[in-house]
Amino acid sequence: MANIKYYSEDTIPLEMHKVRIIQKLLLLPIEERLRSLREAGFNTFLLKNRDVFLDMLTDSGVNAMSDRQQAAMLIADDSYAGSETFYRLEDKLTEIFQTKYFLPTHQGRAAEHIINSVLIKPGDTVLMNYHFTTSKAHVTVNGGMVEELIIDAGLVEESDLLFKGDIDIDKLKEAITRLGAAKIPYVRIEVGTNLIGGQPVSIANMREVSAICKEHGIISLCDASLLADNLYFNKIREDEFKDKSILEITQTISSLFDLLYFSARKLGYGRGGGIITNNERLFDMMKELIPLYEGFMTYGGMSVREMEALTIGLDETMDEDMINQGPQFIAYMVEELKKRGIPVITPPGGLGCHLNAMKFMDHIPQEEYRAGALTAALYLCSGVRGMERGTISEDRNPDGSDHLANMELLRLALPRRVFTMSQVKYAVDRIAWLYANRHLVGGLRFVEEPKVLRFFLGRLDAVNDWPEQLMAKFREDFGDSL
Ligand code: F0G
Repeated sequence: MANIKYYSEDTIPLEMHKVRIIQKLLLLPIEERLRSLREAGFNTFLLKNRDVFLDMLTDSGVNAMSDRQQAAMLIADDSYAGSETFYRLEDKLTEIFQTKYFLPTHQGRAAEHIINSVLIKPGDTVLMNYHFTTSKAHVTVNGGMVEELIIDAGLVEESDLLFKGDIDIDKLKEAITRLGAAKIPYVRIEVGTNLIGGQPVSIANMREVSAICKEHGIISLCDASLLADNLYFNKIREDEFKDKSILEITQTISSLFDLLYFSARKLGYGRGGGIITNNERLFDMMKELIPLYEGFMTYGGMSVREMEALTIGLDETMDEDMINQGPQFIAYMVEELKKRGIPVITPPGGLGCHLNAMKFMDHIPQEEYRAGALTAALYLCSGVRGMERGTISEDRNPDGSDHLANMELLRLALPRRVFTMSQVKYAVDRIAWLYANRHLVGGLRFVEEPKVLRFFLGRLDAVNDWPEQLMAKFREDFGDSL
């Protein structure tokens, strides 16, 4: 972010880019929003985009591309094998991460598929700071288990701890002693820890974890999907790195892991994904699976146009003025909500602003999905589409009971370079109205529930007529406005 001093006292994040292509948005009247919500089974994944005003569902595959990225797509070299586009991307990854080997995949979970099919044996346990939905599912479908070692303070919703994504080193040592290194295929660090509010991991912590893995001969793995935000926080929150370039910080991180993978739907303002490593043995073990599941070795399921855009997007990720817009807008949104007394995850992280539904909806039993109810209610009163990250995002326990999540969050993602300040202010204003009227919101129950990753396709219903009551109050307060 440019270091601008304002004449007034205000601090307003300032974008160092301008908008050159726009998409028209629609804001439906609340009656139509209620109809779409019912049609979508109260699941925002099932809403049609044309019924959404501000799409804050995710930052995945929806970040705005730059003029340079769009231009690069025109020079994509279309070929099944040996495309120049692949070599440009491979060279860029080597330049940035200093890794020799690259396996392209069609997205992040495809990289997880390859890694886990090769590394997991039934009965193994993967240790990690915290799971991500698909990363856990790929361990368990291969017969493995996941153990989370996040520091206890990482799960405290409101805090001023700067690196809430860190692994608890004592828990890590204890788990290795208890399980034995042979039962631990790898230790996974997810930078920018998604499910606890986009919270960063410190390099100090990565160093300790990496040293312990080396000592025990365990593979260290980094899920770098949310690396861009993490890099920014390493720079501004970790003293050692405040004068280092983003490239130097990236190379420091990369040197600490045997294996890194990423969703390029998040990293690099693109689409696709991949695995990078300096370990020839791991590369050889995994490479045969790429043509089987993804596509030939020089595209891995990505289109060459996406790959060209990614090459430029990775370069832009090394520019602090490009990666700071997301975290700065998120910080602004979090501070504005905090000022209004609205429970929100602090400190602000990356990815998005996370409302603490555990508190926001504390009158709803957790079994009636507090975060799901908040997500549905916010769409109803604003047209803003967020994502439930709570109990609905957890699959049931083997005995059929709900696995109550540690955190009940409504994630409002801020895709990079997409929304304007006035759109953020609109969202804050509607959230404030909803907070004042939260007692009108009731719970949800499943009417159609898939067994795996139920949050994607599951359908729910309101436990009573609370949506109609909320709509009536909206009309009373806003008249016939949208
Ligand atoms: N790892 C992390 C940390 C992620 O956030 C995601 C995706 C993946 C892996 C899987 O990557 O979607 O390309 O297959 N997160 C998206 C989200 C879905 O909305 O948070 P993918």
